[in-house]
Amino acid sequence: MESVPQALSARKKNSFAYKTIKERLPVILAKVADSVFRAKTVIKENHGEQGQEDLKTIAGCVSKMRNELMTSKPLIPLEDNRSDTKVWNDYLEEVAEREEEPPSWFTSSWLYVETYMYRRIQEAVEKCAVLKQYDVFQEQKEKALSDSHEAVMILLKYLLTLVQEIEEGKKIDTQLLFKEFMQVCLWGNKCDLSISAGLENSQKSCPLDQVNTLRPYILIDDLDTVWNKIVSSGPGRVDIILDNAGFEVATDLCLAEFLLTSKLATSVNFHAKAFSWFVSDVTPVDFENTLQRLMMCNSMATDFFLKRWKGRLEDGTWKLQVHDFWTTPFPYCEMKSRSPDLYEELSKSKLLIFKGDLNYRKLLSDLDWPTTTPFETSLQGFGPSPLVSLRALKADLVTGLQEGQVEKVAAQDANWMVDGSWAVISFADKQ
Ligand code: F6P
Ligand code: MG
Repeated sequence: MESVPQALSARKKNSFAYKTIKERLPVILAKVADSVFRAKTVIKENHGEQGQEDLKTIAGCVSKMRNELMTSKPLIPLEDNRSDTKVWNDYLEEVAEREEEPPSWFTSSWLYVETYMYRRIQEAVEKCAVLKQYDVFQEQKEKALSDSHEAVMILLKYLLTLVQEIEEGKKIDTQLLFKEFMQVCLWGNKCDLSISAGLENSQKSCPLDQVNTLRPYILIDDLDTVWNKIVSSGPGRVDIILDNAGFEVATDLCLAEFLLTSKLATSVNFHAKAFSWFVSDVTPVDFENTLQRLMMCNSMATDFFLKRWKGRLEDGTWKLQVHDFWTTPFPYCEMKSRSPDLYEELSKSKLLIFKGDLNYRKLLSDLDWPTTTPFETSLQGFGPSPLVSLRALKADLVTGLQEGQVEKVAAQDANWMVDGSWAVISFADKQ
């Protein structure tokens, strides 16, 4: 058997990992400090003096961590009492033992230090007295959703017409529409806030027109196989492992609705993050806020879907689930041993849809695979159920490409691996 490739890390100077850790992460932390500072007045009004003290705690912890990062200090154990604290601290020891030195910001693996940064932000929040639910990225996420308002409305109106046609018994091309919604959902992943270090990154153009213009940018398109799988596997549940709030989660909701109305699925489980993660990832609060925002729109389509989706959450055809595993540094090939309960839960699904770049990195264990390695090989045995990854490329790893494909795309776009313009739809069957 061929040896497993190296983990991506800042050790490789001038690599994308190196630049992200050295340049992008400090900017994200500086923005957190800035937004905490700006929240002072509102927090004082709502939470009094203690709220302000809590903000100081968060700002202090974040700026301390920024210093540690910029001087590549060793990673330190967490000091809070979350359900996952021991898991993180045990892992710190595990890595120190394996690498025969304490993990530090520029020497340990990129996946580990980047996830550790978000967990340390949460540690700061956990230390608060009254702001224990505070989300340092809330403001940015809400702006991303409101800036994408028009695109969301176009999508909802389109979906409403379809739902009505299906329910009136009109004949529709389910396969074509399935592929269309999957692609809208894929390109929704262009809009995340950690790639832009929190700069504006919303959906401004018509998402349906984009499906055609962006098709040439899909490097791997396994949609036909996914379609065959979903129709041949009979009634059952689909799981969407969510990525970003804002426009992206709206596309996820629309896909989920389409799957149910067209009877391609009998229920949909959404998997969200337990706390704020990679700037824009969906937490249960973001999920709820997305529905609340629809309520404020006052149009036929939003009224219709709000009622329908609240009903779905009540009758269980939609479920929102949270598991600590999603906010750990672990690659998915370790899910079975580290979180067997989640693995078992996912094995009840007929299709797992993994959204976005970070999920893809974890599927591939964030390793520097040769690009022509079969996607299935790079999963290293992970496959509780058939799975598809819908991912815009924002990190320098990819598998499943054909010989010669890299040269061709690199000639068109030197930053093709990291600028979010190219994408893959990669499928693997249950292992
Ligand atoms: O900071 C860059 C980055 O970490 C990517 O490499 C990462 O995977 C991305 O941010 C988040 O993207 P997504 O929201 O698609 O997971
Ligand atoms: Mg994300």
